[in-house]
Amino acid sequence: MEKLIVTGEVQLTGNIRISGAKNATLPIMAATLLCSGVSVLHDVPHLSDIKAMQDILELLGAKITRDGSAVIIDTSGVSKQEIPEHLMREMRASVFLMGPLLGKFRKVRVSYPGGCAIGPRPIDLHIKALEKLGAKICESFGYIEAEAGQLTGAEIHFDFPSVGATENAMMAAVLAKGTSVIRNAAREPEIIDLQDFLNKMGAKIRGAGTDTIRIDGVQKLYPTEHIIMPDRIQAGTFLIAGAITRGDIAVENIQPEYLFSVTNKLEELGATIATSTDSIRIKAGELRGGDIKTLPFPGFPTDLQAPILSLLTVAKGTSIVTETIFENRFKHVDELTRMGARIKVEGRTAIIRGVPRMTGAVVAAPDLRAGGALVLAALAAQGVSEIEQVYHIDRGYEQLELKLQSLGARIIRSK
Ligand code: EPZ
Repeated sequence: MEKLIVTGEVQLTGNIRISGAKNATLPIMAATLLCSGVSVLHDVPHLSDIKAMQDILELLGAKITRDGSAVIIDTSGVSKQEIPEHLMREMRASVFLMGPLLGKFRKVRVSYPGGCAIGPRPIDLHIKALEKLGAKICESFGYIEAEAGQLTGAEIHFDFPSVGATENAMMAAVLAKGTSVIRNAAREPEIIDLQDFLNKMGAKIRGAGTDTIRIDGVQKLYPTEHIIMPDRIQAGTFLIAGAITRGDIAVENIQPEYLFSVTNKLEELGATIATSTDSIRIKAGELRGGDIKTLPFPGFPTDLQAPILSLLTVAKGTSIVTETIFENRFKHVDELTRMGARIKVEGRTAIIRGVPRMTGAVVAAPDLRAGGALVLAALAAQGVSEIEQVYHIDRGYEQLELKLQSLGARIIRSK
């Protein structure tokens, strides 16, 4: 089993170019099923979740090739609408296939999706949206079958602004007969990127990024070319790496407006931030504690809760972190405690008492973002840390150790 070996207490300095966003790429790859032909996606990161989506599309009959950071997807041979359980279990994003397969082929058969163990990952909001559009859905033997003679435009109101359910509803509605309106839609930037891609295919969507998205159904969609938006979570993780190592880092090729909740919080914790049109530079001062509450966009992103909690373990004073999005997203706490952190978890709240210094330890990544958080803690800790179960980290951070090495980190991957 691969592990990352980190020698801490090195100030990171330098510039890092941020690659395309995993959470924009996955729904957009699924959306290529809505047309027949060759689409080209640029700036696609090399991640195991992307490879898992590629495996699913190929199993359905698509032909996919990679050319550096470009992915070429030919969907003209797609003939299947069923995804086997072992592929569905590999990641949560497999649920994104329901919308496009239903939209294009009027039927789909999938098992319940997998994904990080950060809490129950129900898909009731996805199912309700697809039923509103006219799908007949039956769930039995661990599989979900959906069929629709004709999808018709509908008013869809989400009880919770679910990112995936919003994306699934958009992809099912674009070929429906008539207009759909999605209310209490998620406002994450990745949804704007999906809207841009679908509109380039010939869809008629507006409102992504707000809580109301309108979709006028069209007859047909066409293949297109698209540059995936930069990964705001990757960018936030590197900014926190600069803060926790008291370094001086600039993240480039980003959209700073999508990171305001993160940079404002880092300034509150004592960092100095300089923002330009497509980059953010962070210089760390004396870190002080603060309170974090994760919220749907534009609130503080849940995917940066674990990374910033690592920062708070070595900030002066007491901090409180409240995780409102997922039920069980504090799995990094036990591992950080092994490195000397002083944290108490009560339900969805963690209380952190800052310590002057953490010490290296052998820890195991319990999920993707918790894994990122452990790497950040190890970069600041005294001595050597070993981070096991690196496969979790590889799901969402492209060549993390190489990028950190380019900033001066002493980190290697060992087999
Ligand atoms: C997306 O997951 C992201 N994944 C997650 O990133 C991210 O943490 C999350 O959005 C929130 O921003 C991808 O885009 C591939 P949700 P998703 O539906 O769509 C509940 C990462 O680390 N819910 O907004 O699954 C759900 O249980 C990953 O990159 C229902 O109850 O998130 C959760 O508590 C982790 N019923 C909350 O909503 C539903 O039908 C948010 O889920 C759907 C969701």
